[in-house]
Formats: sequence, C-alpha cells, structure tokens
Amino acid sequence: MMKIDVLTLFPEMFTGVFSQSILKKAADAGAVTYNPINFRQFSDNKHQTVDDYPYGGGAGMVLKPQPIFDAVKELTKADQQQVKPRVILLCPQGKRFDQQKAEELAKEEHLIFICGHYEGYDERIREHLITDEISIGDYVLTGGELGAMVIIDSVVRLLPGVLGNEESHQQDSFSTGYLEHPHYTRPADFRGMKVPDVLVSGNHRLIEEWRRKESLRRTYLRRPDLLEKVELTVEQQKWLDEFKKQQE
Ligand code: ADE
Repeated sequence: MMKIDVLTLFPEMFTGVFSQSILKKAADAGAVTYNPINFRQFSDNKHQTVDDYPYGGGAGMVLKPQPIFDAVKELTKADQQQVKPRVILLCPQGKRFDQQKAEELAKEEHLIFICGHYEGYDERIREHLITDEISIGDYVLTGGELGAMVIIDSVVRLLPGVLGNEESHQQDSFSTGYLEHPHYTRPADFRGMKVPDVLVSGNHRLIEEWRRKESLRRTYLRRPDLLEKVELTVEQQKWLDEFKKQQE
C-alpha cells in the first residue's frame, strides 16, 4: 500500500480531490492512504510561525526549515528501514513533471509532498531534506497544492488494481510514445456528422490499421517532438511521408 503525506498550510484544499472518483476508489481498495497535514503544527515557537524575513533583505517571506525538517522526521519515523521515502518539493524551478516521472513515483511506497505558498523555501530544505524538486509546468501557481494534486492523481491511477481493464493505462498517450487515435461512439450519424466508414465496417484488421495511422497523424500534427524519441516502422515512415505531402 502506498502512503502519501502532504505537508501544506491548507490541508482542506485536498478534501474534495481525495474523496471523489478514482482517487477515492483507490483508497477504499487499500491501494493508497492519503494524509494531508498542516505543517504549522510542527512549528516549535509559541506563535506557530512557519516563515520569516529573508536574510539580506528583500520582499516576501521565506519558509523556515525547522517545521518542515521536523515534520518529515515525524512522518518517516514509522517507515521500515528499507523504505526510502521520496520527499518532493513543489516549485516552478523544479524538473518538469511528465508521465515517465509518474511511472517512476508509482513504484514507491512512501511519498511526502511539500507545498509552499506565497513565499520561497529556505535553501537548506532543498539541499538537505528533499529527494525531488518538481514543477508541473512553466507557469507560476499561488502554491504547490495544485501541483501536488496533479502529481498524486497521475501516480495513483497507475497503482496496481486501481484502474479496471476498461480504463487501463497501457494505451495512454505518453506511455506508448504516441498520442491516442480519435474515438467515436453511437450514433454513426450525429446531425449529419459521420463516423469514419472503416470504424463501422466490422473489419478488425483495417480498424487497427486506421487507429495506428490516426495515432501517428495526431502525434505528427500536434506533438512532432514526441516522434524524435521513437523508432518508426516502415509502415509509419510511409504514412509520415503521406502526411507531409498533404500539408504541402
Ligand atoms: N508552485 C508554484 N508554481 C508551481 C509549479 N508550476 N509547479 C509546481 N509547484 C509550483
């Protein structure tokens, strides 16, 4: 069972996310436990402050190391010796999150997320406490919480038994290296907008071929950068030449 702790000043932000849909089902099934926790409670001063003015002056406050160090120590106390928790700092300066990182984190037993708000982190947290520094994209959020939610969502759905066969993640875009082909459901003719003939033909060989081709087309048109990382078959190379011609 994976254990997920989240250090935050706003634990209630997580209530909805952890109590709905697949993330809730995963917890109910015993695949994961969630523990959003206010790190203010670890502050050792009587006003329970967690931040302070930056040395050298300047605007903004800086998260103090003490509450974060003590919280992580407390949360890792019960870990068996062989469990090495991943301590993940959310920040826009971190390594950009992707599906590969989600797959890597899904193999772990204990994740601890540290979410800052408004301010920076004392650098000693980065240097001596954390194992990963992650950004969810090149934009600045008001805090790390939404980033932690994104990462947790993408990791938990990969845990064994969480998605049924129908929702299997084997075919996910980014896991396969290609974007997914288009999908259609009934009716075959919706207000004059028709489903491609091949999909209603019943010919499974042709349907599979159409899917491979449209998956490649989508990847080529929307995310050509992904194609630099894969090796193309002769069939794919032929299609790619065809797509390029169509664009001329
Ligand atoms: N905190 C603020 N901005 C962030 C981002 N882009 N990713 C992760 N954490 C953040």
